[in-house]
Amino acid sequence: MTANAFTSVSMDPLLVLVCVDHRARTHAHLHAKKRFGVNVLAEDQRAISEYYARSSESHQHAEQAGARFERTKHGTPVLHGALAYLECRLHTAQAAGDHTIFIAEVEDVVFREGEPLLFYRGKYRAIGAPVDNSKSKSGNHEGKNRATRDKAAGNVRRDQR
Ligand SMILES: Cc1cc2nc3c(=O)[nH]c(=O)nc-3n(C[C@H](O)[C@H](O)[C@H](O)COP(=O)(O)O)c2cc1C
Repeated sequence: MTANAFTSVSMDPLLVLVCVDHRARTHAHLHAKKRFGVNVLAEDQRAISEYYARSSESHQHAEQAGARFERTKHGTPVLHGALAYLECRLHTAQAAGDHTIFIAEVEDVVFREGEPLLFYRGKYRAIGAPVDNSKSKSGNHEGKNRATRDKAAGNVRRDQR
């Protein structure tokens, strides 16, 4: 399933959330397996995003969209060429309207350098120029949460491939 709403929740423990429509096949899957993987797409993986946004009945030729996977020891799929992979174990599920908020503990993270695929105002986009923060009144918060960040970084690895 392609998901836009993927959010960081907590640093200690390391928690993330994803909101899933009750009608999505992924909804039943997450309840049943209590485990999932998140692959953060690179800017050249738009076809893969479009492919997994379609209903699963039309899922026959993932390779044509450029999707190739390996499996982790838990059986969750890791997408080749993605910018990051998060191995997630379900923590809690909260019903919210026609979606469920699945909060999961991140057990493992692998990342590599590259530019992400963005989806904003109904269009796929590339990341833009950095914002000039030099005139910001709120100051620089860098370093405030360094201790918790460093602890969370314990299970973060750079992809060596
Ligand atoms: C950019 C984009 C973001 C999406 N984000 C979500 C999301 O956060 N949650 C969700 O339930 N569906 C989202 N969808 C729709 C699902 O990808 C779509 O319903 C998909 O067919 C569900 O697949 P499944 O039935 O195999 O789980 C998104 C689609 C697109 C194109």
